[in-house]
Amino acid sequence: QHAALTIDPAFRIAEVDPRLYGSFVEHMGRCVYTGIYEPGHATADGDGFRGDVAELVRELNPPILRYPGGNFVSGYTWEDGIGPRENRPARLDLAWRSVETNQVGVDEFVKWARQVGSEPMMAVNLGTRGIDAAVNLVEYTNLPGGTYWSDLRRANGTSEPHGIKLWCLGNELDGPWQIGHKTAAEYARLAAETARAMRRVDPSIELVACGSSHQRMPTFGTWEATVLSETYDLVDYVSLHSYYEQRGDDRGSFLASGTNMDRFIESVIATCDHVRGVGQHKKRVNLAFDEWNVWYQKRFVGSDNLDVATHPRLIEDEYSVVDAVVVGSLLISLLRHADRVKIACLAQLVNVIAPIRSEPDGPVWRQTTFHPYALTSRHGRGVVLRVEPIGPTYETSWMGEVPVVDATAVHDEETGVVTLFAVNRDQHEPVALDIDIRSLPSLALGAHVALFDEDPDATNTVDQPDRVTPTRLADVKRADGTITAVLPALSWNMIQLR
Ligand code: AHR
Repeated sequence: QHAALTIDPAFRIAEVDPRLYGSFVEHMGRCVYTGIYEPGHATADGDGFRGDVAELVRELNPPILRYPGGNFVSGYTWEDGIGPRENRPARLDLAWRSVETNQVGVDEFVKWARQVGSEPMMAVNLGTRGIDAAVNLVEYTNLPGGTYWSDLRRANGTSEPHGIKLWCLGNELDGPWQIGHKTAAEYARLAAETARAMRRVDPSIELVACGSSHQRMPTFGTWEATVLSETYDLVDYVSLHSYYEQRGDDRGSFLASGTNMDRFIESVIATCDHVRGVGQHKKRVNLAFDEWNVWYQKRFVGSDNLDVATHPRLIEDEYSVVDAVVVGSLLISLLRHADRVKIACLAQLVNVIAPIRSEPDGPVWRQTTFHPYALTSRHGRGVVLRVEPIGPTYETSWMGEVPVVDATAVHDEETGVVTLFAVNRDQHEPVALDIDIRSLPSLALGAHVALFDEDPDATNTVDQPDRVTPTRLADVKRADGTITAVLPALSWNMIQLR
């Protein structure tokens, strides 16, 4: 099989915003407790954070980390998580029916996030709380001192303001499962007034309004239109959430998840621009895809059926090679929309549907999905170029006819390196990909790294942590302005041309 595409530096989509490679830390299951934080662990630092986990987070290098939820934030009292740890209350978290010990709160999280090289993206509770709790939190984190909440932060040991720039106005409030679920009109008013007040505390912050929890919500589209009509001038981004999983044995459809993500993104862009047109607004509202991943939701028992427990094992999905190929293709979709998607968060960071797994009092390891995410994040920096692969297609029951090869390219204009990210969705046959580089004739062969395996269901486990890793291939050929690389069957690929 053959496919072909042309790389031309003139066909610029946009500069990649590094925040496209963000992730998410929720107080859920073992993401925080026995994930990033475990005071008794052999590698724990003086603040109780695990050194082995921090090392893999640094390797993954997410520039932003959304915190503290998720559904958790809609019942959260942030004041419970500040001050001397011994005085912090253990509370019942209604989102995940868990005991929240509050041993990690905003001060510890922000300090840790910066130690691992990330900026916090903070969510406020617009489920059970509202304007007052939100503005107090901005005052606590962002004002230098001289007011009640900023002085309290200083008294709690952080003399300089945290200076948190990016804030989410609640989480998934369109969902009936959300504590404090709202209609679009109810949420729109609360988000608008909270945004206005938060900006009065710190006019430099950026704000994300909640979009739909997923694109199958009955209110999808009208929710975004209603919320943006009320908040357009007050917010910078609208959020998107989407989780993908294989249904039954329909792997072909699952592999087409990126096509679905393309359509989802384009629908939300259309709604944003509709509101812009109707309101004759100058600015553009951009997109924050602040929860995305593969998540086998059918394996999850549902929050109402959980026994109350302290940091229970929740949705610790073990990812296969196929899941990693899908994660890689979702990153291709995000990059292709770099002109409007400025922020994205792989949900979540550790243990909970995560690229990093850790055992209490035990080791840490990289899931299969770690690899495409880490490599795309490291090398997918620069200007995204429009590439239009021509090649075979296949039929899916979910997305109709989809291309076998999906690809995008990123041009680092300083170094001249072009990095191509490509997936071969054919489950049985390799595809020879011809890359036309006539407009960049000095490009030479670079590395070809691919993630594939003779067993597409293979996973990395505590016993075999490196069962699945990327392979370096030496198959790239050059002739007459064309570079050809062979994409193995069912694979994610990174091809560097320098
Ligand atoms: O990431 C897991 C959960 O998925 C989050 O708490 C929620 O926002 C979403 O439904």
